Amino acid sequence: KNIVVLVSGRGTNLQAIIDATQSGYIPGKISLVISDCPDALALIRAQKANIPTLILDFKSFSGKKVYEDELLRVLKKENPSVICLAGYMRIVGKTVISQFYHRILNIHPSLLPAFPGLDAQKQALEYGVKVSGCTVHFVDEGMDTGPIILQAPVLVKETDTVETLSQSILEKEHEIYCQAIKMLLEEKLMIQGRTVRVKGGIK
Ligand code: GRF
Repeated sequence: KNIVVLVSGRGTNLQAIIDATQSGYIPGKISLVISDCPDALALIRAQKANIPTLILDFKSFSGKKVYEDELLRVLKKENPSVICLAGYMRIVGKTVISQFYHRILNIHPSLLPAFPGLDAQKQALEYGVKVSGCTVHFVDEGMDTGPIILQAPVLVKETDTVETLSQSILEKEHEIYCQAIKMLLEEKLMIQGRTVRVKGGIK
């Protein structure tokens, strides 16, 4: 089974997925890493692991529609079992979503539906929550609104800054993202409307 990962930045989630495929924990292989940003550190991580990369530099396209058409063309050619957004800083367009329904995953650094969108960790600190965390969910047309697969809580310490909270959440992100990808590829996820159940329960 092949996995395509979409990135824009530093790629620590990509690295976790690379490690988990190499160790055999995730029963699949990353066939392509696509970045919308030519200088993403994630590209170097992929190259080091001998994974093919493709830069779709958003700025070099004449608009969102043309960019999405090209993304769709590439994705159709790859025909991945799962597409993982890993720090990919764009909203995926309708056409791509409808072609890969329930095959696109995202990781978000809050316990959704709290704090969707950008700067989730900052939003959590400013709100004053005592527990935050991360969420792996299917991508739908909304902003961080798709059916939730896994969540992990992280306690917010009084001394936490955006940086320290982000770091604590990131460690959990790496765990639950790999776990969710494994479950999807093992066909253990049953989706009914908004609810995602795991065959045999979550281990
Ligand atoms: C993570 O916090 C992820 O939850 C969010 O963007 C960040 C990406 O980090 N969507 P990285 O590029 O995987 O290191």
